[in-house]
Amino acid sequence: MNLELPERIIAPSLLAANPACLGDEVQRVEQAGADWLHIDIMDGDFVPNLSFGPAIVSALRTRTSLPFDVQLMVRHPARFISAFAKAGADRITVHVESEHEGDVRETLDLIRRSHCKVGLAVNPETPLAAVESFFSEIDLLLIMTVNPGFGGQAFISAMVEKIEAAYVRRMVAGLGFRIEIDGGVNRDTAATCVLSGADTVVSGTALFRAPDLAGEIRVLRELPARAQK
Ligand code: DX5
Repeated sequence: MNLELPERIIAPSLLAANPACLGDEVQRVEQAGADWLHIDIMDGDFVPNLSFGPAIVSALRTRTSLPFDVQLMVRHPARFISAFAKAGADRITVHVESEHEGDVRETLDLIRRSHCKVGLAVNPETPLAAVESFFSEIDLLLIMTVNPGFGGQAFISAMVEKIEAAYVRRMVAGLGFRIEIDGGVNRDTAATCVLSGADTVVSGTALFRAPDLAGEIRVLRELPARAQK
């Protein structure tokens, strides 16, 4: 099989931006060559932290043309999909571990019907088997490489095996969903992840705190990818 691999995407995570000037920060990452903006939505319930609401996303939509990659780290994602789609999300990712009205498939359908690309996220302790049955229905699989809730945590290296397994299963199934990583991702941890098959790189602290943001994005973009096998 010779499926074309998804090109590398670099998505800085807004969580690590200076909260006092988010509009300027999204323009800074756009000018530095980012592909998407990753936006973590937290409800203080599914994860023990709060972050951004639809009003912030909508306000930022006027400041950048970067695609918005919205991750709903919330207990009841179906309740918020329409609000974030209207606010300007291009892609919406929900967690398999959340509570889904009906089942996960219905939530994924709702994202699709809201004209957004469909993502499914999996926490570090959740096995890949929990999401495999949805592979043909998603545009992106997000493999969390930290426990969600806070930026600046250490990458969990055991997740590398999960990335490899996802890559192999995607190839065997002949599918084209993206494999995204998020949590503790810097030039070193990203190098291992992209060699293992990740193609979509979310990074917060390592990018926003880099002295040369454009240079750091370039480093992540140019890391050697896994050979196609
Ligand atoms: C955890 C967050 C973080 C964030 C990235 O809930 O999802 O992973 O996006 O932050 P860093 O790169 O600082 O881990």
